[in-house]
Amino acid sequence: MRTTQPTVDLRTSLASVQLANPVLTASGCAAAGKELGQFFDVADLGGIVTKSIMMRPRSGRATPRMAETPSGMLNSIGLQGPGIDSFIANDLKWLKDNGARTVVSIAGHNTDEFVNLAKRLYNQPIDLLEVNISCPNVESRGQVFACDPLAASRVISAVRRAANPNVPIFAKLTPDVTDIAAIARSVADAGADGISLINTLLGMVIDLDTLRPALGGITGGLSGPAIRPVAVRCVWQVHQAVPHLPLLGMGGIKTGRDALEFILAGACAVSVGTAVFHDPTAPMRIIGELRDELALRGFASLTDAVGFAHKSAAEQDGYFAGLARADAAAIAGER
Ligand SMILES: Cc1cc2nc3c(=O)[nH]c(=O)nc-3n(C[C@H](O)[C@H](O)[C@H](O)COP(=O)(O)O)c2cc1C
Repeated sequence: MRTTQPTVDLRTSLASVQLANPVLTASGCAAAGKELGQFFDVADLGGIVTKSIMMRPRSGRATPRMAETPSGMLNSIGLQGPGIDSFIANDLKWLKDNGARTVVSIAGHNTDEFVNLAKRLYNQPIDLLEVNISCPNVESRGQVFACDPLAASRVISAVRRAANPNVPIFAKLTPDVTDIAAIARSVADAGADGISLINTLLGMVIDLDTLRPALGGITGGLSGPAIRPVAVRCVWQVHQAVPHLPLLGMGGIKTGRDALEFILAGACAVSVGTAVFHDPTAPMRIIGELRDELALRGFASLTDAVGFAHKSAAEQDGYFAGLARADAAAIAGER
């Protein structure tokens, strides 16, 4: 019989990085954490994933850059940011001073730019590097590195060689491919210590008043609850293809129940993105909700639930029977 667990151990890890809980922000949705500092202590989150940083300051794409749709949000921000030097001096310092676990996301126009960013961050106080290979790649005229297994693996192996060997690197993938498992295998073979998935899906909105595209950049990335089933499917497929590789799952997570779906599909931790725009406290709320959802289903720890949906019904029953036997033995020992 399954019993509600009074406490659930929420600790988890992303490769060698130990986290107190599995909820992080998603790149681009909380800048570099400072904005969230007014709502809660950023050290209480599993971690902060920063907006993808590039070598030089960038003003991004033409406005308008956001469009609401009845089924998700579209953005075409275009990697606006202060550039690596200002980021290190201001944002990274703030995160360090405030005790946050820090995942720095990097993006480049070409492999050299990714490598130079990894070198600039070599001696900086960062916990993990997220390599955003899901943004357009100028070398191949607007193609996305993560759409091609060879291009994706080239960037990852170059970053792996240039980055501090004590800092794990996660490749961030796009769902806009035919076979995401093939891309995952190739970046794992190239030295990725884990995978973040998913980035936004390419979408577009036509403004029916102007009869023109609603976004200045014409196309944009779709995010929010509309993309969650796609994201859960990607996490499931990648976990099945490379079961021992840690996954950071994201895409439309608004509640602890949503987060649990990603964990059961195979994610070790989750990132919360679009939800933060209308509820900045969402990541903190989701930690508590996820703990309750796990307890309700009888899990003793978060790590026990990772990939649990891949188990057969008999294996699942075996887990809960084992816990019940351990509980009975503990009670007998107390007598
Ligand atoms: C406004 C906005 C900006 C984003 N900027 C980045 C970025 O700089 N780098 C990146 O890897 N992903 C970026 N993303 C993608 C998110 O990190 C996340 O992968 C995606 O939005 C799915 O999660 P969500 O549905 O919870 O937002 C951005 C998303 C949004 C909505």
